[in-house]
Amino acid sequence: MTQIFAQEQEEASGERLLWPWLEEACGRGRMDRAWVKHPGFRALYVRYIPERHVVGYGRIAPVLDLASMEVESPRRGTLRCLVGDLREAYPSLALYVESVSDVKGLGRGLVRMGFREVNRIGDISANYLWRLP
Ligand SMILES: CC(C)(COP(=O)(O)OP(=O)(O)OC[C@H]1O[C@@H](n2cnc3c(N)ncnc32)[C@H](O)[C@@H]1OP(=O)(O)O)[C@@H](O)C(=O)NCCC(=O)NCCS
Repeated sequence: MTQIFAQEQEEASGERLLWPWLEEACGRGRMDRAWVKHPGFRALYVRYIPERHVVGYGRIAPVLDLASMEVESPRRGTLRCLVGDLREAYPSLALYVESVSDVKGLGRGLVRMGFREVNRIGDISANYLWRLP
């Protein structure tokens, strides 16, 4: 646990930008994760996962996890803009937003953006998946 925390702290100090990081991750096709920089985001932690199992959907591949995020100006469309850009640039890349505790706020917003709630465990938080039909 401590080791994972230390590794994530180290990654937090990195200067990688989302787009070049994602381009490299897609090219390698291996699991990768990073804190990345992207306009409008104070913090953004992403994971590229070649294949992910989603209950009810089976194996989805490849997947970009938007694992942890914080924008500079909430509710101004920063996340919606990023999701739109990702869908346009990488139409076959599924998007996954994990552990959303604000199910009635952000969760409903994600559903309005076309995500579906998946892999729910209890009432504490929910996960959301978007992919082309
Ligand atoms: C959560 C967060 C990353 C969302 O990014 P954002 O740029 O504010 O989201 P957007 O403005 O693009 O909103 C996307 C949709 O979700 C909805 N939404 C987002 N956050 C919401 C909230 N707190 N309450 C209600 N709706 C919310 C928006 O209304 C929008 O839907 P709409 O366009 O149909 O109205 C941002 O609000 C944030 O940094 N919050 C603080 C940190 C945090 O809670 N992180 C946890 C993420 S798991």
